[in-house]
Amino acid sequence: MQAIQEAAAYIQAHSANFQPTTGIILGTGLGALAREVEVEFEINYADIPNFPLSTVESHAGRLLLGTLAGHKVAVLQGRFHYYEGYTMQQVVLPVRVLKLLGISQLFVSNAAGGLNPEFALSDLMLIDDHINLLPGNPLIGPNLDELGPRFPDMFAPYDADLLARARAAAVALGYGSTTQRGVYVAAPGPMLETPAEYRYLRTIGADAVGMSTVPEVIAARHMGLPVLAVSVITDLCYPGQLKPVVISEIMAAAAVAEPRLTALMKALLAG
Ligand code: HPA
Repeated sequence: MQAIQEAAAYIQAHSANFQPTTGIILGTGLGALAREVEVEFEINYADIPNFPLSTVESHAGRLLLGTLAGHKVAVLQGRFHYYEGYTMQQVVLPVRVLKLLGISQLFVSNAAGGLNPEFALSDLMLIDDHINLLPGNPLIGPNLDELGPRFPDMFAPYDADLLARARAAAVALGYGSTTQRGVYVAAPGPMLETPAEYRYLRTIGADAVGMSTVPEVIAARHMGLPVLAVSVITDLCYPGQLKPVVISEIMAAAAVAEPRLTALMKALLAG
């Protein structure tokens, strides 16, 4: 708790007590939204006490505080993954810090492999539920009573109102046919899955697989924050489409979807 408070205090001291209402976490290859923020304060993760450092090249490692679509936002440009060697508590520290800064909702994006055979490359998937296959979660250990209860409910991890508004915004923007909805499964990584593993993940009920998001969502729900999470389908992982994954192709597929993701998030903030 002290580590979280120290980080929040540093940010407040270096942002004239800027109070964001929405926190946004940008996933692999999905940083473009950051360019649309009217940035008031920019703080490098390296300068924030107790913040882990991004080790993944496609993640920038900066906190932006500013205005997007008339809304005060805190954008985490770069996130932390379990596969980088961080503890689950480190992975979710930024989300907990944003809550202390005052956010009242969290938007999350990620790059994910498509398991549902109806999905196409660069589709967006509004996450409506998840399965955690990471070997742990951020709530294990003494409960931080200041943040939330020992046994948080997970009946509706993804906010129904945000989901409905996101669907309506996608349709209004003309993205209805490329905006899917489904279950995200978090796998530890950093290697991608074997063909048998992809079949298994589909069998247990997942529509997309990635290596992030679930820890942050668990921490957010523990604190009572409504969450909207969106996957960008960057590779197809169902029989007939499976092929070796090339990171540059994942980045290219993310780049195609990025303007749609940005427009969707802006529409939600504006509405
Ligand atoms: N598996 C796991 N994580 C991913 C994938 C995948 O196929 N694609 C993008 N992130």
